[in-house]
Amino acid sequence: MSSKLIAPSILAADFGNLQRDVEMVNKSEADWFHIDIMDGVFVPNISYGMPVLKAITKHAKKTIDVHLMIVDPDRYIKTFANLGSDILTVHFEACTHLHRTLQAIKAEGMKAGVALNPHTNINVLEDTINDIDVVLIMSVNPGFGGQSFIENTYNKVKQLKTLIARKKAPTLIEIDGGVTQNNAKELVNSGADILVAGSYVFNSSNQLKTISDLKSITNS
Ligand code: DX5
Ligand code: ZN
Repeated sequence: MSSKLIAPSILAADFGNLQRDVEMVNKSEADWFHIDIMDGVFVPNISYGMPVLKAITKHAKKTIDVHLMIVDPDRYIKTFANLGSDILTVHFEACTHLHRTLQAIKAEGMKAGVALNPHTNINVLEDTINDIDVVLIMSVNPGFGGQSFIENTYNKVKQLKTLIARKKAPTLIEIDGGVTQNNAKELVNSGADILVAGSYVFNSSNQLKTISDLKSITNS
């Protein structure tokens, strides 16, 4: 079984001590940096943008996983490639021509991800799954950190796993929102490959240990 990945979400970091928090992730057992970009239109919140991402990538030594919660993401594909994104995830609900968007992301040398809101059924990916490197299942409604995990996520992960197997697709499954030590194992047992964790990591008193615990729970 391939190793399960942990992606701390920088949204929950201390922005007054951003370099310190980025170095903590570098030093930890985490695998990816998860970067949430929100535009105040697709989601009812604005997070941070290009200058902050530039500051993060200056110090980050791990895979940069960018989650775009913005309308019409095609406008910014080149920008995020130039900023050092390794994976660029767009929302299914924000793309009129998803297939074209995925090709454009790959043409810039990045892995292509598609995120699904909690209300969006897995079967919308039936015709694109073979073109998707990572499907990000939102386990909260996007826009804010620190929300409670939606239990129906387990069913969605299992459905997606079945679709991926049926289509013989190479796609990884990422879960984002409300991830803690309490749901991590069941998510992995359901078929998840990558777990994003924001407030659970950054609000803990020992962040390195919290990441290490998540890593061992998911890989035991
Ligand atoms: C929510 C973001 C998440 C968020 C997760 O819209 O996509 O990545 O940072 O935060 P927690 O882990 O606190 O739910
Ligand atoms: Zn996210």
